[in-house]
Amino acid sequence: MTLSPLKWWQSGIIYQVYPRSFQDSGHDGVGDLKGVTSRLGYLESLGVTAVWLSPIFTSPMKDFGYDVADYKNIDPLFGSLDDFDELVREAHGRGLKVMLDFVPNHSSDEHEWFKEARSSRDNPKRDWYMWRDPAADGGLPNNWKSFFGGDAWTFDAHTGQYYLHQFVSGQPELNWANPEVRREMADTLRFWMRRGVDGFRVDVFWLLAKDPDYRDEPRNPEWRPGQPEHNSLLHVYTQDLPVTHGYVAEMRSALDEFEDRMMVGEIYLPIDRLLTYAGTPEAPECHMPFNFHLILTPWNAADVRNLVDEYDAAVTASGSWPNWVLGNHDQHRFATRVGRPQYRVAQTLLLTLRGTPTVYYGDEIGMEDGSIPPERVVDPAALGQPDVAAAGRDPERTPMQWDATPHAGFTHVGAEPWLPVAENFTAVNVAAQEADPGSDLNYFRALTKLRQGSAALTAGSYRSLDTGTGTPMQQGATALTGGSFQNVRPGTGVFGFVREAGEERVLVLLNFGAEDAVLNLPELEGAQLLLSSHAGASSGVLRGNEAQLWRVG
Ligand code: GLC
Repeated sequence: MTLSPLKWWQSGIIYQVYPRSFQDSGHDGVGDLKGVTSRLGYLESLGVTAVWLSPIFTSPMKDFGYDVADYKNIDPLFGSLDDFDELVREAHGRGLKVMLDFVPNHSSDEHEWFKEARSSRDNPKRDWYMWRDPAADGGLPNNWKSFFGGDAWTFDAHTGQYYLHQFVSGQPELNWANPEVRREMADTLRFWMRRGVDGFRVDVFWLLAKDPDYRDEPRNPEWRPGQPEHNSLLHVYTQDLPVTHGYVAEMRSALDEFEDRMMVGEIYLPIDRLLTYAGTPEAPECHMPFNFHLILTPWNAADVRNLVDEYDAAVTASGSWPNWVLGNHDQHRFATRVGRPQYRVAQTLLLTLRGTPTVYYGDEIGMEDGSIPPERVVDPAALGQPDVAAAGRDPERTPMQWDATPHAGFTHVGAEPWLPVAENFTAVNVAAQEADPGSDLNYFRALTKLRQGSAALTAGSYRSLDTGTGTPMQQGATALTGGSFQNVRPGTGVFGFVREAGEERVLVLLNFGAEDAVLNLPELEGAQLLLSSHAGASSGVLRGNEAQLWRVG
C-alpha cells in the first residue's frame, strides 16, 4: 500500500502556547515572545511540529488578546515585530512551524476601525460593525446574549444605536457581510504569511455570520436557572449560518496563494455539522475544523470508543483529515478533568489516534488546574457569571511550571506572575521531570517519538476492537471469551484499537478503569511491546489505568 505524502499539519503535532503564561523574559510577570524563543529548544525536544501562539497582537487585553486593536502589530507586552521575526527565524531553524491565532469575528473597541465607526452614523467604517436601532420601546434590538453573561448589545449614546458583541462589550462584532471587512481580513492573513507564518488557528469560526434580520433566538427548553444565561437560547441566528462557508472559502483562497499554509478553525458543533467546515475535496474550506469532542464526551471506554468510531467514519466519508484535542485555554486541564490516575491513558489516546493532535502547553508534564483565589480572578468570562470562582478559565492558564524555584521559573523572582502559579509546581515541573526517566514528560516524548517514527501511527488506518466494554461483567470472571476483555466495570472499561499502514500494525490498549483487566486478544499473539504507561507491562493483563502500545505481527 502506498500512502500519499502527508502535509506537515497532517503528520505533525501542534503545540499551543498561551504566551502570557509560557515564559516571561522580563520582570513584569507576563510571558512574552522572547520568552517563547528562549524555550524553542524545549519545544523541539518534545517532538512537536508546530507552535500555535494564542493572540500576541496589539490589545487592551480585556479578553487577554482576543480583543485585537491592531491586527498587524505585536502588543508591547509581548515584544515587537522584530521579536516576532526572530521567533519565526529561530523556530524555522529548528524545523518548527509557527501558527498564529487569528480573531476575525470581532476586534477591540479600541481598534481604529471601531473608533471611526462609532464617531458618526455616516462614517465609512460604520458598516464594518453591527449596529441596530433600539426597539420601538427604546429597549434592546433583540434577545441575543453574550457568551460571557448579559446581553449581546451595548448602547452607544453618541450615535443613538446599539452595537453587537457576543463576548465582552470591548469586543464589537465585525460585519462579515461587508466585503471590505473580508478583504481587509484576507489581507491580514497575507501580511503574516509574508512574514513566514505557516498557519492560523481561527477564533470562533462558526459565529462569523448572523441573521441579516436580527430575529430573536428561540428559548432553549432544556435550560435551567443558574446555568449560563447564554445557554438559555437556541443559537439558530448567530451560529453556523450557511453563508459562513463562503467566508471560510474566501479565507482559504488567501491561504492557497501561498505554499503549504493551513488553518484550523475553532468550531464547537456536532460532528456532522463540524465536518461541513472542511468543505469537499473539490471545494476545500478549513484544513481542520477543531474536533473538541474528546473534551465533551464522558470519560469511559464505551463512550470514547463510540465517539472515535463515529468521527473516524465521518471524516473518512467526507474525505477530510481528522484531528483531536484534549485541552486548550478555554477548558479545564485534562489531568484535572479525567483525574490523575487516568492522565497517561488520556495522553496516550491523544497521541495514538488517527488525526493531528493538538497539545496544550504544560499538559506534557501533567499540569493540573491551578486554584485561583477570588481576588485574583481576571477572566472576563468568569467576572460576568453568578459563580465567579466556578466559571472561569484562569485555572487552566496558570504559568508554565519550569522548575521548583519561586514562580516556577516562569518569571523573575521579584515579579508577580499575572496569575498565581499552581501549588503543585515544586513537584510537577520540567526540571524535575527531565531528570526522571519515568516521568510524564519523558513518557510524552516516548509517545511523540513512536508516533513520528511510525507510518501506522501518523498515517495509518484506524480500527477499534470489539472489546465488549460497556457490558457489565462480573468481577473475577474466569471464562475467557475470544477477543474480549474481562473484569471491566461498566462506565470504565478497556478501549483497544489498531492503527495500520502497509505491513506495520500498532495495537493500542487503554484501561479506563482502576481495576486490572485480563485480555484474551488474538492480536497479542507474538506482539512486541512498544511502550507502557506503567513499568513492567505484561501481555494479557492491562493493569488499572494502564496504557499499552504493541507492535503486532
Ligand atoms: C474563543 C477563544 C476564547 C475567547 C473567545 C472570544 O472562544 O478561544 O478564549 O474568549 O473566542 O474571542
